[in-house]
Amino acid sequence: MKAIELKNGIYWVGAIDWAVRDFHGYITPKGTSYNNYLIMDDDITLLDTVKHDFAEIMIKNIKSITEPSKIKNIIINHIENDHASSLDRIMELTPHATIYITERGKKGLERFFDLSKWNIKTVKTGDTLKTGKKTLLFIETPMLHWPDSMMTYIKEDKILISQDAFGQHIATSVRFDDEYVSCESISELEDGVIDYYANILMPFGNLIKAKIAELQKLGIEIEMIAPDHGIIWRQNPGKVIQMYLDMANGKANLSVAIIYDTMWHSTEHMTLPIMQGIRDEGVDCKIIKLRATPMSVAIKEFWKARGSLIGTPTLNNIVFPSIAEFLTHLRGLRPKNRIVGAFGSYGWGGGALKEAYEEFRRMGLEIFEPGLEVMYRPSLEDEERCYEFGREFAKKVKEYHQRF
Ligand code: FEO
Repeated sequence: MKAIELKNGIYWVGAIDWAVRDFHGYITPKGTSYNNYLIMDDDITLLDTVKHDFAEIMIKNIKSITEPSKIKNIIINHIENDHASSLDRIMELTPHATIYITERGKKGLERFFDLSKWNIKTVKTGDTLKTGKKTLLFIETPMLHWPDSMMTYIKEDKILISQDAFGQHIATSVRFDDEYVSCESISELEDGVIDYYANILMPFGNLIKAKIAELQKLGIEIEMIAPDHGIIWRQNPGKVIQMYLDMANGKANLSVAIIYDTMWHSTEHMTLPIMQGIRDEGVDCKIIKLRATPMSVAIKEFWKARGSLIGTPTLNNIVFPSIAEFLTHLRGLRPKNRIVGAFGSYGWGGGALKEAYEEFRRMGLEIFEPGLEVMYRPSLEDEERCYEFGREFAKKVKEYHQRF
């Protein structure tokens, strides 16, 4: 590929990772991109780098516009490896450039590189950098996604370089939202946003609301949002801001996700009458088997639904290992505004549901109990109990959904 102009001498010079399927444990069925940007002004300025494996692709893209040795400023919005790990390669080519970064970013960067020979200036919210005709405004966004994070706003062009925020893990040959919607669909794009938010930003809903309010208070007018992953929002940047606000405010579908695993199909057997009960209450339902589904997809489906039922067999008196992994993963994401319950089969003494409910309580979720347990194999009477369990859960989900 080559550099692609966003607007008035501002270029995408990043790389597309078509093959990545495991992004530090987050499964990425559609790959991703590492977006970074070059501003051609009196002082040529690079915003972020790319994952180190792709450094030469980035350099080639920069060379399609200018010699890398001419870069004067390098803005590091975020130090995570997928964005900053080819900084040393760029600094080899332009050793006299000045790096602009937050104080926390500098402290983090010291753990990855020897900074002793580099010019580094720390910046904070409200600081600006004039590159010639353009003015860059820095806005710190701690914890979105790491403590060091910040965004850079290009005032004259009204472009927000938002690093991780508003991104999606999507590898595609097109760079802009209107192009992607035309070659794929709006629902594919929305799904990418939800997937990314659920797996990365779910814990930070309150921070997101506060940061969007701060941007509004600063009077920032946004015509384009250029994140560090996926599609650039040039046609409808307001859409992704609204999606973030909605998710931060607890928006979910009036639906249920049944997330389960099974040993000898007994817990699996329970899912169908439960699903039927949920459907007969007029609530949509999706069934997800954990060992057949990537963890990040299960997390996304949990996040999309107002209610989830976790199906787990008892193994050695505790929850099934894949369910334990899912619940641990979920707890780290600090989910809110969701109602949960549990069901499953056991052979000897049971114990899985007790553990699952303890995890639900630890997470502070709305709880539907008691859960439903079946010994060994569901009988016809048990199937009837499963059906009623599904109906009752769906009623509670509808009731709870009214609060939002
Ligand atoms: Fe895309 Fe937090 O790194």
